[in-house]
Formats: sequence, C-alpha cells, structure tokens
Amino acid sequence: MKTRSEALTALRRTLSEAGFETAALDARLLLLTALGISATELITRPDIPLSPDQAEILAAFTRRRLNHEPVARIVGTREFWGLPFRLSPETLVPRPDTETLVETALDLIPNRQAPLSIVDFGTGSGCILVALLHELPNATGLGIDLSFGALVTARANAIDNRVGSRSHFALSRWADAVSGPFDLIVSNPPYIASGVIPTLDEEVREHDPRLALNGGPDGLEPYRILLREAGRLLAPGGLLAVEIGYNQSENLVSLARTYGLEILRIAHDLSGNPRCITMKRS
Ligand SMILES: C[S@@+](CC[C@H](N)C(=O)[O-])C[C@H]1O[C@@H](n2cnc3c(N)ncnc32)[C@H](O)[C@@H]1O
Repeated sequence: MKTRSEALTALRRTLSEAGFETAALDARLLLLTALGISATELITRPDIPLSPDQAEILAAFTRRRLNHEPVARIVGTREFWGLPFRLSPETLVPRPDTETLVETALDLIPNRQAPLSIVDFGTGSGCILVALLHELPNATGLGIDLSFGALVTARANAIDNRVGSRSHFALSRWADAVSGPFDLIVSNPPYIASGVIPTLDEEVREHDPRLALNGGPDGLEPYRILLREAGRLLAPGGLLAVEIGYNQSENLVSLARTYGLEILRIAHDLSGNPRCITMKRS
C-alpha cells in the first residue's frame, strides 16, 4: 500500500497529466479529506501507509475529480469570508467574488452594532447571510430559497458558524411569502441567460444546480422581481445590494430607474469587473 506522501505525489501527477491547473492544491485537499487528517499530520507523519478503506475513498475522489467535479463538492465544504460552509447538491459553491457584496454592504452600514433586519434572497449555502450576521452582532436575518435542500444546508451553516439563533430560513419564490420591512436586502440571484448555460465551463454547467444559474432569457428576470419588490420590503433608509454578472451593470442602472431606486455604489471585484450594485429608494 502507498504511503501518504507517495499517494499525494501520485495523485498530483495524475491530475496534472489530465490537465488540471490546480493539480497540487486539489491533490492535497482530496488526500487530507480522504484520510481525515490535518495538513500538520500529513507533514509530520508522511510515511504511514494508507489503509485499504482510505485508498478506496481516495480512488473514488480521484475518479470524481477526473470527471471535472469541483474539489469543493467532493470534499463537501468551502471557505467563504474566512468561515467554513457545508455544501449539498442543491447549493451553489460560494465564489470569492461574492465577498464583494458582503464587503460593500458592511461598508455602507453606518452602525454595525444596530439591531438590523436582513433578508437574503436565494440564500443557497447561506454564505452571504451568515457572513453578514457574523460581522453584525445584533442583526437578525432571514434566508429565502426555492430549494428546500439548500435551506437545510444554509440552516446547518448558520448553526455551525454560531449565528443560528439570529437567523431563520424559509421556502419562498422570491418575495412571494415575505413581508418586510428590512434594513438590508441582499441577493446573489441566478443571473446567467438561459442560452449561455450550455457554454459554461463543465465544472459549473454539470455540477452547480441549474436553479442557481438560470436567470431567464436575458439573465435579468430575478432582478426585475427583486427591484420591483424592494419598494414594498425596504425600511426607510434601507439598502438593497445585489451581485451582478460582469456585463450587467448598465442593465441594472436602467432597471433601478424603472423601479424608482437610486444607485448608491457600484463595487468592483478583484478582477476589476462591476460585481455589486447597492441601491436605496429614491
Ligand atoms: C446564484 S445562487 C446564490 C447562492 C448563494 N447566495 C451564494 O451567493 O453562493 C442563487 C440562489 O437562488 C435560488 N433561487 C433560484 N430561483 C429562486 C426563486 N424563484 N426564489 C427563491 N430562490 C431562488 C437558487 O436555489 C440558489 O440558491
């Protein structure tokens, strides 16, 4: 049986030869998870042979990765805002770009100690809501999704990250079952135009839930609903912050005008693309 370090080297080579650019990082994460050991244990005891069970799990993980399943889905967790988030087949893998939304919302909140009420539409893994509640110690939050499986995962993530007592999760088609007022509405809705989905990377197209991607014929359908509902749901002085696709800012500016909202800020992600638009009632 291979030792831990031999298994790591072999897996790195297999993934690298299959063309995975992140072969070294992927191999390490898959090995640590398959063996149930920490990075420190791997470094300090590299010569321990794998047990037959560990070798079998690692072989299954390798097959899944070679089938282009994202590593986060295989290991079942992903870090967001420095916090761990469990994943399930019904949740999108949280993206680093989405931290732009959390950062912007926090920046625009005048008093982080205030007892704010927050709603997160399309909460998925709960990453946005949980990150915000983590930073806003007196806020309470409601996470909405149309996927029951996503809500179960989001609730577990809220509990794991110690904001369970300040959060609720509910099934609703956008705001159909929701009444305000809220000081902060956040959303990273599905914003890919239906026709573009077949052209996405295999890792996204085949493994992220379709409900989390499909924004309708022009990718803007969820924004029309959320911006329209914002007037009803926002408390006086409340904010609406949404993540957008890299080429959607002009469309959002014009939708904001249609629904009587004023743009407060357009924030860019680390690649310099417009990624988050924050609005208030004008
Ligand atoms: C792009 S994902 C965002 C997930 C998570 N907030 C994040 O940022 O990683 C969009 C989410 O919206 C949910 N969703 C799609 N259509 C919906 C609808 N009509 N009503 C409520 N949620 C919906 C999906 O299930 C998915 O969890």
